[in-house]
Amino acid sequence: MSSRITRRESLLAGAALAVGGIVGSANDSFPAAPQSPSNIADATSLPQVEAVAREKIPPAIYEWINGGAADQNTVRWNHEAYSRIRLQPSVLVDVSKIDTRINLFGKELPFPILLAPTGGHRLFHPEGEMATVRGAGAASAAVVMSSASTFSIEDITKAATGPVWLQFFIKPDRAFTKDLVQRAEAAGCQALCVTVDDPITGVRDWTRRDQAAMPRLDRPNGPGASSAKFEPSADNYSPIAPDKVTWESIDWLRSFARVPVLLKGVLNPTDADRAVQVGASGLIVSNHGGRQLDTVPATVDALPFVVEKVAGRMPVLVDGGIRRGTDVLKALALGASAVLIGRPYLFGLALDGSKGVTRVINLIRSEFENAMALSGRRSIRSIDRSVMWPV
Ligand SMILES: Cc1cc2nc3c(=O)[nH]c(=O)nc-3n(C[C@H](O)[C@H](O)[C@H](O)COP(=O)(O)O)c2cc1C
Repeated sequence: MSSRITRRESLLAGAALAVGGIVGSANDSFPAAPQSPSNIADATSLPQVEAVAREKIPPAIYEWINGGAADQNTVRWNHEAYSRIRLQPSVLVDVSKIDTRINLFGKELPFPILLAPTGGHRLFHPEGEMATVRGAGAASAAVVMSSASTFSIEDITKAATGPVWLQFFIKPDRAFTKDLVQRAEAAGCQALCVTVDDPITGVRDWTRRDQAAMPRLDRPNGPGASSAKFEPSADNYSPIAPDKVTWESIDWLRSFARVPVLLKGVLNPTDADRAVQVGASGLIVSNHGGRQLDTVPATVDALPFVVEKVAGRMPVLVDGGIRRGTDVLKALALGASAVLIGRPYLFGLALDGSKGVTRVINLIRSEFENAMALSGRRSIRSIDRSVMWPV
């Protein structure tokens, strides 16, 4: 093939650049999509970290992290819902000092962003959860560790330099669950999150395909530390086998838990009220990042209804689709005490181990401070609904 560039080729290249948004034209979409950096060290936002991951990590791993349930409507809505909310800044406020500290369950955290529980970190990086807690510690973030982790609760808490909470599933084997909780408390976990939206995993079209490409990893916290798996019936029908988890299970858990118990995966305000009645210490408004029941609403759309029902009786946290500092600001304005992020730090982990996790946290933390400064809010207490444009 000739290496000479013909006039036709150079015109085609020019047209491709224009389509890519580098050369402007009246028909381009606005704003032009920014070019993706080629490595995480050059990524300056969570969407950019994700774009690098999409290019760099094996497609099955990318899909495993990124995927949602069924047609992934809820995954999309989780993102879109934040961009629909418009902000109403106040100007000429002294924002020369921004204070992002919060207090949750009697403990101070330097900023209201935690790492959401996600299982199987050794699928993404050889140092798995050990890298995650080191990276989080370096960025002063609290971590909610999943019982479906690939290191033991004891090893993870030993490696951690910041607060660790445990997320787990209440399993039919109550003795196993009680032992898990007591191990976590003995290891220094400061809170427990029971995932309540997962009696069985959601419909995930990609699971079977990607699982074939995944190494089989030990689950040192026991085979019962994950949720029941959904296997769709195909040639021969067989009934599904979800775990039995009910409000009575929460009463049982509370009868021996010594640290605060949060319910993760509440969207329905009636459930939120019931959670208060059974003595839960807090709630995480979550749709599991859109990985469970597709077409449930975006969490930020459910949040105000839950907050109204709870009426200050316990802290309400939220996760799902939080990628920008302004998303954190909006969640807090709608009554969340703190937010959690999931996929972004997994992309950071997969790309650069503990350093990638630190980078992701620092990026969103500094964007959040930027959003506070530009909206004229210098403390968490000053973030309320008035920061949103009235509709
Ligand atoms: C790869 C992956 C694994 C997850 N594993 C768990 C888990 O073990 N337990 C759990 O309660 N939630 C799990 N989640 C859900 C997260 O805790 C969280 O709700 C969700 O990721 C937040 O949405 P975001 O990823 O859009 O930030 C997982 C999510 C992902 C992406």
